[in-house]
Amino acid sequence: MKSDKLTESVAASSVPRHVGIIMDGNGRWATKRLLPRAAGHRAGVKNITPVVTCALEYGVRCVTLYAFSTENKNRPQDEVSALVDLIRKRLKPMTRELIERGARVVFSGERDYFPDDVIAIMSDVENENTDKSAQVVNIALNYSGRAEIVRAARLAARRGEITPDGLERELYTSGLPELDMIVRTGGEKRLSNFLLYQAAYSELFFTDTLWPDFDSAEFTEMLDEFGRRQRRFGRV
Ligand code: FPP
Repeated sequence: MKSDKLTESVAASSVPRHVGIIMDGNGRWATKRLLPRAAGHRAGVKNITPVVTCALEYGVRCVTLYAFSTENKNRPQDEVSALVDLIRKRLKPMTRELIERGARVVFSGERDYFPDDVIAIMSDVENENTDKSAQVVNIALNYSGRAEIVRAARLAARRGEITPDGLERELYTSGLPELDMIVRTGGEKRLSNFLLYQAAYSELFFTDTLWPDFDSAEFTEMLDEFGRRQRRFGRV
């Protein structure tokens, strides 16, 4: 049953249905230029729209961006404040542009952590969505894969439905397409608590390119390579 969902339409299409992106390397990008780390995050935000647009034009149905992990809160206070401030200032204009390009924006993560004005911005963004059937940009904010699984298990247990379907219904990504591909920039080769449940059969792509330098040309090469990879889902 599960494997039918996993393989649904993949045979017919070599385009990943859902791509997760770990946008790593902003700090090093800034340090290399003798700039404060916050400048790297600002450059990182500027790079989101072109890369996401590339995915949407390629035909990807959903892109999940790892924008702020639960663990990012343990960074020095000034960097955390700079990140929250960036979300406060840039989230609405950035998402408005994506919605104008035909996308629907949703969020994953524990939003209660954020100040009230930032939570209100997230609600405003959700209210700007018009097309329910549009391609989705899912922004992970104060997100932890382990916390998501624990939360989903708790909710599924409350309904007495601890089954794969019951649990998946309670994930933030419920209703979104199967995660076919994960891209991590910045040279590290790990998942860092990103979409742990959803990554079960994802194809993984790593590049040394720092996130602000990651461009459509390199992304398109990865998307093309995805189409050439043989996916077996545990079969021969
Ligand atoms: C990793 O780089 C990146 C982050 C921790 C944050 C990514 C966030 C954004 C691009 C902005 C989010 C804002 C909006 C409006 C969605 P790093 O700092 O760990 O880089 P390093 O490994 O080089 O230090």
